[in-house]
Formats: sequence, structure tokens, C-alpha cells
Amino acid sequence: MSTPTKPHKLNIDLIDSFEKIPVKIFDSSDAGSLFVAHEIAALIKEKQAKNEKCVLGLATGSTPLRLYTHLVNLHKNEGLSFKNVITFNLDEYYPIERDALQSYWSYMHRHLFNQIDIFPENIHLPNGELSKEDAKKACEAYEQMIESAGGIDLQILGIGTNGHIGFNEPGSSIFSKTRLVSLDNSTRINNAYEFQNISEVPRMAITMGISTILKAKKILLMAWGLKAPIIAKSVEGAVTEQTPASILQQHNNCLFVIDESAAAELTRIKLPWLTGEIEWTAKMIKRAVVNMALKLNKPVLSLTTHDYNENGLSDLLVEKGDAYDINLQVYYMLRDSITGWPGGKPDTDIPGHPERSKPYPKTCLIFSPHPDDDIISMGGTFMRLHDQGHDVHVGYQTSGNIAVTDEFVTRFLDFAVGFENQFGIDNKKSEQILSEAKHFLASKKKNEIDTPEIRAIKGLIRRCEARATCRYVGVGDANAHFMNLPFYETGTIEKNPYTEKDIDITIELLQKLKPHQVYCAGDLADPHGTHKVCLDIVLES
Ligand code: F6R
Repeated sequence: MSTPTKPHKLNIDLIDSFEKIPVKIFDSSDAGSLFVAHEIAALIKEKQAKNEKCVLGLATGSTPLRLYTHLVNLHKNEGLSFKNVITFNLDEYYPIERDALQSYWSYMHRHLFNQIDIFPENIHLPNGELSKEDAKKACEAYEQMIESAGGIDLQILGIGTNGHIGFNEPGSSIFSKTRLVSLDNSTRINNAYEFQNISEVPRMAITMGISTILKAKKILLMAWGLKAPIIAKSVEGAVTEQTPASILQQHNNCLFVIDESAAAELTRIKLPWLTGEIEWTAKMIKRAVVNMALKLNKPVLSLTTHDYNENGLSDLLVEKGDAYDINLQVYYMLRDSITGWPGGKPDTDIPGHPERSKPYPKTCLIFSPHPDDDIISMGGTFMRLHDQGHDVHVGYQTSGNIAVTDEFVTRFLDFAVGFENQFGIDNKKSEQILSEAKHFLASKKKNEIDTPEIRAIKGLIRRCEARATCRYVGVGDANAHFMNLPFYETGTIEKNPYTEKDIDITIELLQKLKPHQVYCAGDLADPHGTHKVCLDIVLES
């Protein structure tokens, strides 16, 4: 009998056989944004050297925010000039007033144009203020203007979770031009965070068409975080108008710039054993086997040699033994990741237990982005930790004031006024604050930012709720730490990038408590990203 040899590997780049658009993966959205900023800067300078205009197609949304910060920094710190730049934005809501906080016109001026030296006459965005008839004409004119400027040199794109580019929703024709479109319900839900509530999200938009986008000489599509499924579909799936971004497979100079999370569903990341030789670490074995078990809907211990071979894992069998042994190894790894003793089981030494039994009791710190994520996302663990005798603290990272409605505040104001009257409390300062707050809310305009006093009251309401939670769990008031991270305090849905101040506050709490365990509560699917920022702050601290 001949000894088994390793299966022969073909000498081709297997990644290419799955990915039909070039993809560059960065370890963070910030690094990816910096790369795109440098691409733009290089093009601007190249054009400047030739005395030419540089025509940029720009996008809005949460994706390019860091890109714009980097461009502003390049302008302020490294003298990058935008005097030769002409811009065309992809889209605008319809109808919307130009000056509305949520218009893309306001967004672009706030995040980029007001902070660089671009000539105002070189800025173009679709106009959301026109009548429908005039808007149609303006769409034709927009196409004309792009052409007269010499076409778009570099188009920046984001991508919707349904695969839209610009506001070209699934079903948009490959031949579509700049036009009025009606927004997909999923897009309105995704973008509701920019507005007070979903009913205020415009039902229509003006967008460049797919053919307009495809005419750009170069395209950079950026995607971060939770866009993994649609990125894989667009890059590896069939070209279809049902996934507008997949049509970019037909462009000859398009690059996807994504972070690791957005890359998670690409075959080379998700099933790397299918795209090349890999090192079979314990973690990789676990991933491969769990993935196969889920796909076949079979318990890990029932997987057979046949299953391994059929699912591209014959390599693993060759290197690590038979299916039975590998199944057991993975089963033990899964078993040892589960516990009813999140703080460790005292006075027992269980090998492979996910947490140390000593020291006991432990100091545990739960970071909760808003004053309710502790109980929402890890309420069971929170209660267990406390019930099992640990000293549990909660760091409420932001005030959460933006989520409190004006109606709710009015109710509390009524209570406070009633309380004063009931007990004959005569406090001039308090009376003044209460009457000013009531007056402000009664005459508050749409989109008007709350006064610091109203924000403080809203924050206080949420603090009281958080304290109630702690009391319910059995944790004392002194263990609830309200951090009020400053990045959150803009008074608007859009938050500032975090700074050293946020990090310092976090470090201070960590140093004060010296916790044995740190938990980060929250849900990274949260579209407005506060949970992600809060996690990044903890990791950096
Ligand atoms: C924005 C645009 C849209 C967004 C997309 C992703 O001008 O045209 O296609 O790029 O909806 O939005 P974010 O970046 O907010 O996830």
C-alpha cells in the first residue's frame, strides 16, 4: 500500500476564481478611509500638476464620514488644495429643503465643503427643492453638467444592505440615468436614524443612475461593519439588477475598500480552506467543523468522513486524523465555552472552564453604551454575576439623552412643577429652569437642537431608569457609574468622533475599579453606530 500524499494544489489564485471585483481588506474602517483619502489626494495632485480639473463623484451616509475627516485633515495639516476639484454628489432626498439638517447638501457642507478651499460654484448636488416637473428637467441637466465637466474621474460609493448604490434600489436598470426614484422601505428604515422618526424619512430621492455611475473612470466602493452579506453577494454572486452593486463587476476600474467585518462573508475569509492552503490551528478547525455542521444541519458528533470530503475538508482529515477524533476535539471546545458561572466557579478547578475560579469574588465591570444595554443585551449574565457573589459595576458610557422624547420630558416637568406646588417649595432657580424648559419644548421647531438644560433633564430620566435596573438586579447605587462620554453630547443623532477625553474618562474608571472582568454590552447591528464607537473606546482604553 502506498503512503497517502497531500492532495496536489493547483498553482492558481483561487481567490480570483470567487471574487469578480478586486477587494482590498483593511483591519479597520479608519485605515480603509485613510487609504481612500490618499487615493483622492493623489489624483487631485496629479491633475494639479497637469493644470487640469479633478472631477469627483461623492457619497453621503455613515460610510464616508471618516474619509471626509481625513480629507479635511489633509487640507488643514498638509496643505492639500481643492481649488481644482469639481464635485457631483450621487443623490439627495426628495423632497427636502437644502438647509434641512438631514439634507445631503447640509451633510456635505458640514463634513467637507465648509472646511476645505473648494470653490462653491464647483459643488453640485441634485436639488431636492424643485417641483416634480422641474426636478425631471434638472436630472437631465445634471447628466449634462457631468459630461461638460469631462466626466467623473473618481466615483466614491457606499452600499446599502440591499445592494443599492446611490439610491438605485434593487431592480434599477443598468441603463438608468439621474432620475427621481422611490426609496425602498428597507432603505427608509436604515436611514430613519438621521430623522426624528421613520414617518419623516422622505419617500423619494434623486439619484445618479447605474449607467451614470458606470461611466466614471474609476470607482472606489467603501463598506464597513455589517455589510458582509451584501459585499459577498456583490463580489462573488451573479451580476443582477436585483443586486445593483453586482453590476460593478462589469466596470474595468473598480475596487472595493472594506474592513475585516465587511469581509467576513467572502469565501477567502469565511471558508479559507476553499481558497488556498491554510494552517489548521485549533480555532480554524473549530470554524470549519462548526460551519459544516450548520450547513448540513447535523450535530458535530455525527459528522462523517464522507461529510468532510464532500465539504472541501479532506485536507483537514489528511493532516489531523479521522473524523471521529476531530469531531470530539471540536465538541470539547464548544462544551468548554459554555458556563452558568460567568465569573468562574469558586472552589473548583475545572480544566478548560472558560473562566478562572480564582480570585473569588471578582470585580466585574459592565460597559453599557446607553443606560439600558446592560440589561437588554446581557441581563441574564448581569444577574448571575451578582447572584453568584461578585462585585458588579456598570459603566453607563453615554447619557442616552437623544432617545428621550419631548412628550416624556413634559410629563416629568409637569411632575416637578406639581411636586413644588404640592409641598409649597419656593425655589426661584428651579422655577426658572422648569418654566424655561416647558416654554422651550412648547415652541420647539422641527429639527431644533435641545438646550443644555433639556438635554440634562433627558439624561437624568435615563439615569433614573438605569438605577432602577441596578436596584432590580440588586446592585447598589454606588456601583452605577455615569460616564457621560463627550463624543455623544452633540444634541443630534449624528455624534462626534471620539477623542482623548472619552478615552481618559474610561481609563479613569478602569483604574479606579481595577476589574478582573470587563464586559462590553451592546449590539453591533445598531445602525447609528454608538455601540460600535463605545466598544472601540473601551478597546483603546
Ligand atoms: C449615499 C448613498 C447610499 C449610501 C448607502 C449606505 O449618498 O448614495 O447609497 O452609500 O445607503 O449608507 P451608509 O453609509 O449610511 O451605510
